[in-house]
Amino acid sequence: MFESVIKKIRDAKKIVLVTGAGISQESGIPTFRGKDGLWRNHDAMKLATISAFYDNPKLVWEWYNERRKNIFSAEPNLGHKAIVELEKFVKVVVLTQNIDGLHQRAGSTEVLELHGSIVKIKCTVCDFKNNILTEFIHIPPLCKCGNILRPDVVWFGESLPQEVWQQAIIHASNCDVMIVAGTSLVVSPANTLPIYAKQNNATLIEINPEETIMSSNMDLSIRNTSVMTLPEFVSIFK
Ligand code: APR
Repeated sequence: MFESVIKKIRDAKKIVLVTGAGISQESGIPTFRGKDGLWRNHDAMKLATISAFYDNPKLVWEWYNERRKNIFSAEPNLGHKAIVELEKFVKVVVLTQNIDGLHQRAGSTEVLELHGSIVKIKCTVCDFKNNILTEFIHIPPLCKCGNILRPDVVWFGESLPQEVWQQAIIHASNCDVMIVAGTSLVVSPANTLPIYAKQNNATLIEINPEETIMSSNMDLSIRNTSVMTLPEFVSIFK
């Protein structure tokens, strides 16, 4: 079984990675639901929903500013870097739920940010969008149109940008191997991507120290961290 999965990886023409907070955990960024999870100290429904934002935009901005500071001081880890190195041997597309930008900072060339980005902002009314260039003096910051700006991230209850989600489905449905690394797979629709892959006969591999709801559907589940595992996948090609 293990040998056949290794052969599938070696023969793959396209590998899709579905990643979550766990892949950045070894860069010092806490996960949401793991034992050191972020949500332990904050009530998700207080900070990551559009109604919470309108109830208290200042609190939500303060939380995202704190997370942004933590992310800016983090560095891509050996897991992120191994995914970049895989690109030397095979087509790699990263579908990430993370908003920390560490895949791009590591050098991954094809990354879809399913839940947006912590460095991007948009207006709550007009179509203004931009990267955050400096810390705002006043929070919540205002757009030139006079309305408040918000982090350009997908909150609970919001749908993913249609064009991003459609592309993600296409990649998930057209890969030889899907590696699901560092995600609890509890948030939809990202957690349906392995189903699209399976329906199209891809080999499914999970990298997670803990079991997930999809573990029994995987061709191979590796109970280890992404830093300990992903560099091993690169050595398969050497
Ligand atoms: N390597 C690999 N996996 C790890 C590591 C590690 N070093 N450390 C923790 N994990 C695993 C945990 O066991 C857990 O299953 O990573 C997973 C992280 O799960 P979550 O914290 O639920 O994060 P994620 O799946 O990305 O959450 C999805 O929920 O909160 C929203 O929008 C937010 O994008 C996020 C979405």
